[in-house]
Amino acid sequence: MSDAGTRLATDPAPLRAWVDELGAIGADAAGGTTRVAWSPALRAALDWLAATCARLGLAVHEDAAGNLFARWGPDGDDAVLVGSHADTVPQGGRFDGALGVLAGLEAVRLLRDAGYEPRRAIVVAAWMDEEGTRFKTPTLGSRAFAGHDLSALAGATDADGVTLADAMASWGRDVARLPEAQGVDGIAACLELHIEQGPVLEEAGVELGLVTQIAGLLGLRATFTGTAAHAGATPMGRRRDALSAAARAIVALEDWAAGREDVPVTVGIVEVLPGGFNVIPGECRFTIDVRAQSEQALDAAEQAVRAALADAAAHGGVEHAVQRTHRLAPVPLDPELTAVLARGAAREGATTLALASGAGHDAMQLAPLVPTAMLFVPSDGGLSHNPAEHTSPAACHLGARVLAHALRELTS
Ligand code: GLV
Ligand code: MN
Ligand code: MN
Repeated sequence: MSDAGTRLATDPAPLRAWVDELGAIGADAAGGTTRVAWSPALRAALDWLAATCARLGLAVHEDAAGNLFARWGPDGDDAVLVGSHADTVPQGGRFDGALGVLAGLEAVRLLRDAGYEPRRAIVVAAWMDEEGTRFKTPTLGSRAFAGHDLSALAGATDADGVTLADAMASWGRDVARLPEAQGVDGIAACLELHIEQGPVLEEAGVELGLVTQIAGLLGLRATFTGTAAHAGATPMGRRRDALSAAARAIVALEDWAAGREDVPVTVGIVEVLPGGFNVIPGECRFTIDVRAQSEQALDAAEQAVRAALADAAAHGGVEHAVQRTHRLAPVPLDPELTAVLARGAAREGATTLALASGAGHDAMQLAPLVPTAMLFVPSDGGLSHNPAEHTSPAACHLGARVLAHALRELTS
C-alpha cells in the first residue's frame, strides 16, 4: 500500500475518551470498575462496544459464549483477530482487558481514516470472562472459541450458588451450545495488546513490551473443616478451629513463595462459616492462585502447596480437601508475528523490551492454534487489579499505532 496509508493520526484523546466511557460502565463504590461475567454491567459494556463498533461501520456479532466480534473487511477464513477482554475483576481498573479491545478498535479507526482498505478482514474481539472471577473459569470465551470441551463447567457455581448455566441463561445463552462458539478456523493470526500489570517496563524506562511467553496458571480451592463451637465456653486446647488452621496454611504458602522469585502464590478469596462473632469457625474455604513459567515449575508448586495445606490441617487437627479449579499451561508466543509488532514499534521509533507475562491472557488459548503475539504498554507503578490502574494516554495511543502498523502489514 502507499505510504500515505501508514501516516496515522497521533491524537490520543479519542482512545482515552473510549477508555473513560467504557470504564464508567460498572463503576463501583471503590472508584473502580466491576464487570464480572454474565453481569448486567458486562452486558451494558458489550452493548456500548457493539454500538461504538457499529458507528465505525463494522459488522458486529456475538457468539454462543458471549464473545463479541466486530469485523472490518472482506469475507474469508483468514481474518486477523485483535482484541482482549471486557470483563474485570471486582473493583478492577479501566485498562486491564478494556484497553486491548479499544486499542484494536482505535487501530482500525486510524487505518480507515488513513484511507486503508484491508485485503483480508480485521476482527476486533472482546472475549467473555477472561478473569474467571465469578465461576473460577478464566478465559472461558477464548477457550470456547478455541474449541475446548467446557461441558464440565455447566454446574460451576458462583458465591451465591448461581450456576454458570443459569448465569448464561440470564443473557439468553444456553451452556449446552458453547461448542457453537468454536471459531478459530476462521482466523489466521491473533494480536493482543495489554497493560503489563507489573513494573518491568516502567523500571526499565522502556515504552513497549514484546511478550515472549505467558505464564501457566493453576487454581485450587481448599476446604478446611473443623467443629463450630461456642467461643466462650470451649477451652483453647479443645478447639478444632478451621480458620486458624487455614491461616497457618496461608502464611506457610506465603513463606514458601517468598523464598523464590519465580512462582507467585496468592490466596484471594476466603470464606468463613458459619460466620458468627461468637462462633469458632467450623469451616474455611479459600482459593489458591499459582503462576509459573514452565510445566515442571507448576507441578512442583502444586506438590508444595498440597503438602503445606496438609501440614497446616494436621497441625490444627482439622480435615481438609483440595480441588483443582483450573490449570492452563504456560504458552510461548509466535516469534515471527512478534517481529511484525517489533517492526511496527520501529516505525514509531519506540523502545521495546522482550519479556514474559506473569499474568494470564486470552492469547494463551489462541497461541497453540494460530500465530499469536502480544504487545504490552507500561502500567504506572506496576499496578493492576486495582482501581488506581493507569497508563498514560500517550502510551496507550503508541500501542494502538503499533497495532495499526502490524495489522496493515498482515492484511495488505
Ligand atoms: C488475569 O488477569 C489473570 O488472572 O492473570
Ligand atoms: Mn486481569
Ligand atoms: Mn487482562
